[in-house]
Amino acid sequence: MQASADRLDQSSAPRRLSNQPPLMELEDVNLWYGGTHALKDVSFDLFPNEILAFIGPSGCGKSTALKCLNRMHDGTRDVVITGRIELDGTDIHDPDIDPPMHRRRFGWVAQKPNPFPMSIWRNVAYGAQIHGLMAGRAELDAHVEDCLRRAHLWDEVKDQLHKSNGTDLSGGQQQRLCIARALSTKPEILLMDEPTGSIDPIATAKVEELMLELKPDHTIVVVTHSMMEARRVADRVAYFHLGRLLEIGPTDEIFTHARTKEARRFIEGKFG
Ligand SMILES: Nc1ncnc2c1ncn2[C@@H]1O[C@H](COP(=O)(O)OP(=O)(O)OP(=O)(O)O)[C@@H](O)[C@H]1O
Ligand SMILES: [Mg+2]
Repeated sequence: MQASADRLDQSSAPRRLSNQPPLMELEDVNLWYGGTHALKDVSFDLFPNEILAFIGPSGCGKSTALKCLNRMHDGTRDVVITGRIELDGTDIHDPDIDPPMHRRRFGWVAQKPNPFPMSIWRNVAYGAQIHGLMAGRAELDAHVEDCLRRAHLWDEVKDQLHKSNGTDLSGGQQQRLCIARALSTKPEILLMDEPTGSIDPIATAKVEELMLELKPDHTIVVVTHSMMEARRVADRVAYFHLGRLLEIGPTDEIFTHARTKEARRFIEGKFG
């Protein structure tokens, strides 16, 4: 009974946020790590310029689902993915898709800030440089400044761009540097795996504010363990449970009228 109710919840959930066509569509995605069946029949759409939050208990497949979007599982031994994942209507696993070009459309921000052990300037310039996005040094300098300004870090680091090492910054600054670095390749979609999971509340507020500012030009998928954060930033919330996407819908609806008891209990803090 519960299983059929769950299936109904998933299929009847509002798949459409607006009248725009989806940017990405996932249909019956399954993923195995060897013998571990980590994603089970996951289907959802991602719409342009939305913030979609993945929530759910530890080990339920949130990071695994996030990594499917930019093909981060490529090359990982024993990973098998079935189902269909489309970006702009094209299967992302189509042989004609060049994986590095696909990945370039995404920026990745991890839970633990992980700047390169090099200058602040190089941390940000690197992505644009390797993809040859800027014509010369002056253009690159302007791009680095733009990325740092958009990440709200420019004023704090503008006098030490070449002197300081990215790893010498505070944790919150490092995370904003990683966001500036992610913006360097001009991605359309930002994938953030618990971006505020290891920084303090003030730094968290800055990162959340930044996500809202980036939304008009980007689509953001964020994994979070903070229900408050999901409520503050997300347009829609996807609740994962034991590898299944049990519910997806507008944030207010999920937080006030979750249809599955699993999602209700998780949101109420009864497990997870
Ligand atoms: N590289 C891997 N090899 C084998 N199993 C893995 C691997 N990565 C994840 N798993 C397993 O897949 C399942 C989903 O893991 P995943 O990391 O996606 O969960 P999560 O929801 O992100 O959890 P958390 O909230 O703790 O980060 C878990 O059972 C996990 O142990
Ligand atoms: Mg995770």
